[in-house]
Amino acid sequence: MKRILVTGGAGYIGSHATLELLDAGYDVVVVDNLSRGHRRAVEPARLREVDLLDTPSLIRVMQEAPVAAVIHFAAYIAVGESMKNPALYFRNNVAGSISLLAAMQEADVRNIVFSSTAAVYGMPSVVPIPETLPYAPINVYGETKVMIEKVLDWFGQTQNFRSVCLRYFNASGADPAARTGEDHEPETHLIPLLFQAIRTGVPATLFGNDYPTPDGSCIRDYIHVSDLARAHIGAVDWLLKGGESRKFNVGTGAGYSVKEVVDAIARVVGQPVPHVWGPRREGDPALLVADSSKLQGELGWSPRDSALDRIVETAWRWYNR
Ligand SMILES: NC(=O)c1ccc[n+]([C@@H]2O[C@H](COP(=O)([O-])OP(=O)(O)OC[C@H]3O[C@@H](n4cnc5c(N)ncnc54)[C@H](O)[C@@H]3O)[C@@H](O)[C@H]2O)c1
Repeated sequence: MKRILVTGGAGYIGSHATLELLDAGYDVVVVDNLSRGHRRAVEPARLREVDLLDTPSLIRVMQEAPVAAVIHFAAYIAVGESMKNPALYFRNNVAGSISLLAAMQEADVRNIVFSSTAAVYGMPSVVPIPETLPYAPINVYGETKVMIEKVLDWFGQTQNFRSVCLRYFNASGADPAARTGEDHEPETHLIPLLFQAIRTGVPATLFGNDYPTPDGSCIRDYIHVSDLARAHIGAVDWLLKGGESRKFNVGTGAGYSVKEVVDAIARVVGQPVPHVWGPRREGDPALLVADSSKLQGELGWSPRDSALDRIVETAWRWYNR
């Protein structure tokens, strides 16, 4: 049984990918310092409470048993926080990733799937966004991901590393069996914030209804976290079969507006969603939708659970677990 090391496996996407890997017959060991994740999200016997910056401990984890590939989710993810505290983000996301790569080199583990983001494109000039657009991040968080994509290219050229960078759009939804789900602190994502508004009765503030879109609110590409998790299995399989390094968008190509999300929640949950419209937020493009034809063509991946009502229904079930 091939062993996969998952960093950030106590977090939202990493905990779903871990379940998906186990379902697919892989063995999994998780590295997480629990700074933003949840102990309950990982089977205790699989968890190694290690910080990415602790290279010797990472090497020891990789030497417990042979590791075929690493899936690297561990990072801080809040754009606003990254602009207030860039040192925190460069240290954790960039220095932390470099520490991981140094450990991999030492332990002779050379396959890695990296969590990248649509934020590497900034305000894209072409939508749906193809992978060929140049890097143009407009915040520190996006810059940290660009830097590691480039570092991975150099580890490919100089150290025989092979990598798949998956640039996710808006991860959403929860495991359909409600074994894990989304729980960020601070929470910045739309669907859990709207659930909080229903629970507390305090209206959620939504940013901007005067964009040049059909209903005036921003359009985003919501990808169900289980579909996202399956893209990681595809990427691991690709690397283990000897595939070359790749960079892929992971989205559906179909966007939903903020208003459509609010309406879907009201419909699925059967309750009104308290909300108010505030001004636009700086740096928010009107439309962010992925062209994922490359991922579909090369890995044979396609979304199964990403219809909006399915996303809301699975997220709500987990929220009320
Ligand atoms: N959620 C999204 O919509 C989205 C979109 C694009 C990209 N991503 C990327 O996907 C990855 C996972 O995102 P998520 O939403 O699951 O975030 P999350 O915060 O739920 O999970 C991240 C996990 O990494 C751990 N971690 C952070 N720094 C660490 C360190 N130094 N050492 C060890 N563990 C550490 C945290 O404790 C947490 O469990 C991130 O790399 C993020 O940038 C997420």
